[in-house]
Amino acid sequence: MKELIQQLLEQTVTALKQQQVLPEGFEPRIQVDRTKDKAHGDLATNLALMAAKPAGKNPRELAQLIVDNLPESTLVEKTAIAGPGFINFYLNNDWLASQVEAMASSATANVKKVEKAQTIVVDYSAPNVAKEMHVGHLRSTIIGDAVVRTLEFLGHKVVRANHIGDWGTQFGMLIANLEEVEARGTDAGDIELADLEVFYRESKARYDSDEVFAERARNYVVKLQSGDEYCNTMWRKLVDITLSHNQAVYDRLNVSLTKNDVMGESMYNPMLNEVVADLKQQGLAVEDNGATVVFLDEYKNKDGDPMGVIIQKKDGGFLYTTTDIACAKYRYQNLNADRVLYFIDSRQHQHLMQAWNIVRKAGYVPEEVPLEHHAFGMMLGKDGRPFKTRSGGTVKLVDLLEEAEQRAQTIVAEKSRDLDAEQQVVAAKAIAMGAVKYADLSKNRTTDYIFDWENMLAFNGNTAPYLQYAYTRIQSIIRRSEIDVANLQQAINLEQDAEIALAQKLIQFSDAVHNVANKGMPHMMCNYLYELAGAFMTFYEACPILKDEVAADTKSSRLRLASLTAKVLDQGLSLLGIETLERM
Ligand code: ARG
Repeated sequence: MKELIQQLLEQTVTALKQQQVLPEGFEPRIQVDRTKDKAHGDLATNLALMAAKPAGKNPRELAQLIVDNLPESTLVEKTAIAGPGFINFYLNNDWLASQVEAMASSATANVKKVEKAQTIVVDYSAPNVAKEMHVGHLRSTIIGDAVVRTLEFLGHKVVRANHIGDWGTQFGMLIANLEEVEARGTDAGDIELADLEVFYRESKARYDSDEVFAERARNYVVKLQSGDEYCNTMWRKLVDITLSHNQAVYDRLNVSLTKNDVMGESMYNPMLNEVVADLKQQGLAVEDNGATVVFLDEYKNKDGDPMGVIIQKKDGGFLYTTTDIACAKYRYQNLNADRVLYFIDSRQHQHLMQAWNIVRKAGYVPEEVPLEHHAFGMMLGKDGRPFKTRSGGTVKLVDLLEEAEQRAQTIVAEKSRDLDAEQQVVAAKAIAMGAVKYADLSKNRTTDYIFDWENMLAFNGNTAPYLQYAYTRIQSIIRRSEIDVANLQQAINLEQDAEIALAQKLIQFSDAVHNVANKGMPHMMCNYLYELAGAFMTFYEACPILKDEVAADTKSSRLRLASLTAKVLDQGLSLLGIETLERM
């Protein structure tokens, strides 16, 4: 809505520049806001006030010129100039109603698909092998998955890339230890990942204290890297145990990743020699004290000299950066990416910038293909410090999800007494996972966020339970009406202010979806759904639906609005990977 008026005003600014009313370089940030009171129309802009000075005109005079040059549009019923030079827009309710009708009769709530589908690679989740997934991976997983769903919904071809940490020198000690564990009679398949964490620490301790073990481990690293079959089998076992465990977490969280989406660091290993050779050949990389280094003028070390990024160590080993260089190259050259999104915490920003700086200079990915780091901050505890267990350890994801379900069960047992035991379990699960995900998704991801059980599970405020409840409530109204709302033919009439406000919110859904896709910021969808639910609550208070005195066609129209609201809530939440419930 606002956006549509904004577009009209942008066209007007262009026209006024051509007429030399406005200076050529003038690029105003056009503000369109909802008016406080209906007497002044629906929307208003202060454009004339902002542009008066550059135009050398008084604001009311300029406002008139803007109004005169506004393109014809069916959505504006009339305009008026108010006060010092505000322009008020009165929207055409027939136009609004026709938009709402179109949404109601479309399976996808009339969201415009993209005209040109792109191949978009999305790097997210990316936990490490032989390590329990922890809360640090939770944000990447949840935010990335919401964006992936949104991009796919708009018609893009999405490649999910789970860049797991499955390569490196640590596998020498892990293989050496696995061998000993197996020799004692424990089959690798019986090792749970929780044990694997212990296993990891145990391997490290053995490596640090036992020289014979360490020697064997180093030998295994060399063998693994040269493709030795035995080492490869052992490595595979470790990867597989980790993947099964992670998959259980994804399934429980309703995250759309599968084992087929794994493109771990090991995948790029065979490409690294060639990349390093090519970077040397291009004169970008040089030998420095036996290592191979790329010096970047854009980054200075503390002496003010260009910063050296090592891409191959003295001993021949490659680095995390080398892998990310090859990885970006592969995504463009082999996966044909038009755009690549990385959901990785902000601490890795410099790492990515350096890797991509080299990628661009080497010509591996052309400038027109964006490589985007969608960074996010840390998850903090209520005390504002990094989220830890009471004893100070990292919180395991499984424990966190378990606690969420338990807390939700208590709430459901209290609030949803009509549900039988089985339904309560289902509801608690959906509420718990929704709450955890939404708490993360609803914050602007660039900042740290405070993880707070009470807030995220509250039934009021900007939370998943609030939205899930709004959906359920509408479904219950529809059930109680005993009308087949999907097949109602009567037109939607927008008369009351609250009906109009709800309709105006409804038609912004498409913009919300596109914003998430373009900016990679799911909180924009959360804010939209929260406002939509709020508009519905206001509507429902002001505009009775089921009361006896409501005329039949008004009832139909309002039921259709309610039903469309439910559809949009459901669709929006599903793009966030959150389930709705018919009863709760
Ligand atoms: N496994 C890494 C970690 O846990 C994250 C990988 C992110 N993706 C990438 N292309 N570097 O820190």
